[in-house]
Amino acid sequence: MERPCVRVPREAGEDTRQELAAAGLLDDEYEIVGDDGRLYLPVTDPEAASEAYAVVTRDVPAHDGQETPADRLGFDPSYERLGDVAIIDEDDPDRAREIADAIVDSDLPVRAVVDRASKVKGDLRVRDWTVVAGEDGGDRPVTETVHREYGFEYRLDLSRVYFSPRLATERHRVTEGVEAGEQAIDMFAGVGPFVVPMAARGATVVGVDLNPAAIEYLRENARRNGVADRVTAIEGDVRDVAADYAGWADRIVMNLPHSADEFLDSAVTLAGDDCVVHYYDIQHEDDPFGPGERAIREAAAAEGYAIEVLTRHVVRSYAPHELNVCLDVRLSR
Ligand SMILES: C[S@@+](CC[C@H](N)C(=O)[O-])C[C@H]1O[C@@H](n2cnc3c(N)ncnc32)[C@H](O)[C@@H]1O
Repeated sequence: MERPCVRVPREAGEDTRQELAAAGLLDDEYEIVGDDGRLYLPVTDPEAASEAYAVVTRDVPAHDGQETPADRLGFDPSYERLGDVAIIDEDDPDRAREIADAIVDSDLPVRAVVDRASKVKGDLRVRDWTVVAGEDGGDRPVTETVHREYGFEYRLDLSRVYFSPRLATERHRVTEGVEAGEQAIDMFAGVGPFVVPMAARGATVVGVDLNPAAIEYLRENARRNGVADRVTAIEGDVRDVAADYAGWADRIVMNLPHSADEFLDSAVTLAGDDCVVHYYDIQHEDDPFGPGERAIREAAAAEGYAIEVLTRHVVRSYAPHELNVCLDVRLSR
């Protein structure tokens, strides 16, 4: 079966296998194959993997005895995995049902299949879902799962909170730069995929979110990953919280890409005299960084900060001609 694979020299194989497995990117339906001094490791999300590795398409066999959805269907369906839930994006309900049945009946450890029923929307950035296969289990809703990413576990309910497994490598890029003793704020924390790894590196972290369900899961996820003593989770509008932490932050994460510019005043309030800001944006490919850079410069200058752009990073393509980007910026005064 033709699959996207990360290609590495054979001697880098084991380290890469562990990295991809920890990131939740290794496709365990297919075998790793070797050829000409190189290894090919099948991956579930070539776009996320291609940030850090060379990705090629090649023929790899399914694991012996493991029945894949493709075996049942006769074609290779497109789906993502979030814990034991599979996510599909199909317009035709009959095709959605056929794919969902094949996924659930295959040897994949998948309990439920959900279909995207809307874009992410509103302030809380939550999507509507159609449950195509699976049932609620006791007090556990069908859309709740535990997802593993870079060695951390996140419990979340897809129908109540925002979460995108596609951002795994981006979150890792940012959080591996954190040092013990830092004071970090995630202004739009969700269920904690930036907060938990930053705290695990020894930072003291504040996570704010408007969505009560996200804050509930963030608290649970901090406990689950053994970092609750370094995490403060605050439910509310970060604009109302900023004054309580004025001048506190060495690092700020702003992952609300469509409207982060509206929160730059609050970010500047939160910033200490030397602070790194990770600012996410979605812009046209012709000038993906310019609008964010100008907005940050203006908000920072109003409070006497100089800015230095440390990184201009393309996270992924978001829509035709639109890019999801991150600006890592140092504010100092
Ligand atoms: C794109 S999600 C990012 C979540 C998380 N950082 C992640 O990577 O999964 C944005 C989050 O911002 C929250 N949010 C939106 N407006 C907010 C506000 N004014 N104050 C605090 N949180 C807000 C939403 O509820 C949502 O959970």
